[in-house]
Amino acid sequence: MSALPSSIPSPQRRPIRELPDELISQIAAGEVVERPASVVRELLDNALDAGARQVTVRLASGGVRLISVEDDGQGIPREELTVALRRHATSKIASLNDLETVGTMGFRGEALAAINAIAELSILSRFAGADSAFALDGRTGELRPVARAAGTTVEVRELFFATPARRKFLKTDATELAHCIEAVRRHALARPEVGFSVWHDGKLMEQWRAADRREQRLADALSDDFVAQSVAVEYLGGAVRVAGRAGIPDAARSRADQQFFYVNGRFVRDKVLSHAVRSAYEDVLHGQRQPVYALYLEIDPSRVDVNVHPTKIEVRFRDGREVHQAVRHAIENALAAPRAGDAVTPAALQQPFFKPNVPASGAAWAQPGINFVAAERGAGDFEALWPQRTGGSNPGSGASPWPAAEAAPAAFRAPAGLPAESTAPGALSTNEQAWPLGRALAQLQGIYILAENSQGLIVVDMHAAHERIVYERLKTQLDGAAITSQPLLIPATFAATPQEVATAEACAAVLPTLGLEITPFSPRTLAVRAVPGTLADGDPVELARSVLAELAQHDASTVVQRAQNELLSTMACHGAVRANRRLTIDEMNALLRQMEATERSDQCNHGRPTWRQLSIRELDALFMRGR
Ligand SMILES: Nc1ncnc2c1ncn2[C@@H]1O[C@H](COP(=O)(O)OP(=O)(O)OP(=O)(O)O)[C@@H](O)[C@H]1O
Ligand SMILES: [Mg+2]
Repeated sequence: MSALPSSIPSPQRRPIRELPDELISQIAAGEVVERPASVVRELLDNALDAGARQVTVRLASGGVRLISVEDDGQGIPREELTVALRRHATSKIASLNDLETVGTMGFRGEALAAINAIAELSILSRFAGADSAFALDGRTGELRPVARAAGTTVEVRELFFATPARRKFLKTDATELAHCIEAVRRHALARPEVGFSVWHDGKLMEQWRAADRREQRLADALSDDFVAQSVAVEYLGGAVRVAGRAGIPDAARSRADQQFFYVNGRFVRDKVLSHAVRSAYEDVLHGQRQPVYALYLEIDPSRVDVNVHPTKIEVRFRDGREVHQAVRHAIENALAAPRAGDAVTPAALQQPFFKPNVPASGAAWAQPGINFVAAERGAGDFEALWPQRTGGSNPGSGASPWPAAEAAPAAFRAPAGLPAESTAPGALSTNEQAWPLGRALAQLQGIYILAENSQGLIVVDMHAAHERIVYERLKTQLDGAAITSQPLLIPATFAATPQEVATAEACAAVLPTLGLEITPFSPRTLAVRAVPGTLADGDPVELARSVLAELAQHDASTVVQRAQNELLSTMACHGAVRANRRLTIDEMNALLRQMEATERSDQCNHGRPTWRQLSIRELDALFMRGR
């Protein structure tokens, strides 16, 4: 006997046996073949369970006339070929315990029997180590020797030939073909180490070579853009591991057509999982936009029931909460790191693997650029990255453009000790080259900050960016306990509506956690006595009014837990620098450095981007400048 091919997953293959009746009754019953793509899915499951390394799918007329799936897996022994076509006959489980811990794609022993009942099926197989191959005709039961290398080919012809009514329900060949290719793609995304090719009417439609990295397969089977516009996810929470890639908010689409979720290698659609994903994107993606992702959850098979639906597309987790939390945290963590420096430019698209897969341990999540910024200031913590209140002098940029009465927002004042060279014209210094968002050059129309980094030009929407910085800062403070407040030297009083007065009284206990002190001054007047330090530059009355309006909509006792983020987002909007405020170069640089150090700073609180990169290549193209 020749050596077993390396593709064999487990040498202790069990013979194909009919399942006992009590086990059959436990298995989710129902139709599995709806259209050609269902056959493709079942045959691919079988090929992968057999340890295939290379799978070739051949289709004719959208799969209706022919579906052939050829693999180089372990094959089926001659004497078991006939058994494979019987209902409830499988080599994959033998007991209830096996069913509860099943690790293979198949376990029902139903697929081949179901396909054989509605189409002309034949199996050609050579068992690993056997001298010859045999072909079984599913209709006549005839078995004859054929020439074939180790592995199996299943051919399915004339789907629904005996049920013209069902055949009528099929769509055009082009549509059925698209579904078949999608079925192969789903399998291919689960198993990068396996090569796949798809032929239709003699033409090669898709070919994905075996890859040693998941990113490679994602780039091949989805697109380079998918990889370039997504971040690596790698998370271990309790018994659950979540890996893969989550699309950045910018890459979101109007349709949910690039959402792939796998549980132990099986493509699934599951409410717990999709809700967890949705909630992870809640803070960065607004409206109806659909995130793109390819996520892979691994969990002890005994903690997930795959025997819920006959097509196995649904699963049930023993502990749904645990899974929900793991998925949510995995994506939130991955999206939180600012991506400045990972600019999604054509250059980045051409080398899709610019971002290494980082291990799940703490600090490894930070971006290289961010580590540098932190190290530069000699401090790793978030607070230390905030510019100190230096009293408004702006070294290196001449007289302050701020009228005496209208000081620059405190958060924008340049940090003490910012290298003087930061404002010098000319080539970027080594320090500046390491700043992902580059060195500020100018302000445009009072709205945008223009900056230069090693890749080209950066354009920042300063209000949107600052709003996110303030918002994240408020969130961090509130997570700690309460938002740090700053008393006003002279309380700001305003004529309040009865509703506002009532809300201020009802929320007297909640307001301090938000860093606010608002007390009745007279029956129709409220006084703002303290505001959050972070928002000290905003208009205290405007801030008080919008917070009271928001509080009035909720039950005061629970609002901070339930509507916390909306509330903070409203507050942040008031604290963020407004359009048309002129900033000095140092203030602009301070904002850029804060963005680099702030989680989720690539999107404003409403999910819009805060910055864009225009690469030198794009600028050259604009001017038709060859290099
Ligand atoms: N490509 C293949 N290579 C090797 N063995 C195969 C292949 N396809 C089918 N078999 C064998 O035939 C048996 C029956 O296949 P079938 O798809 O009907 O059932 P299953 O995979 O066990 O369960 P399910 O109905 O859930 O798919 C399998 O258990 C397996 O032993
Ligand atoms: Mg099967």
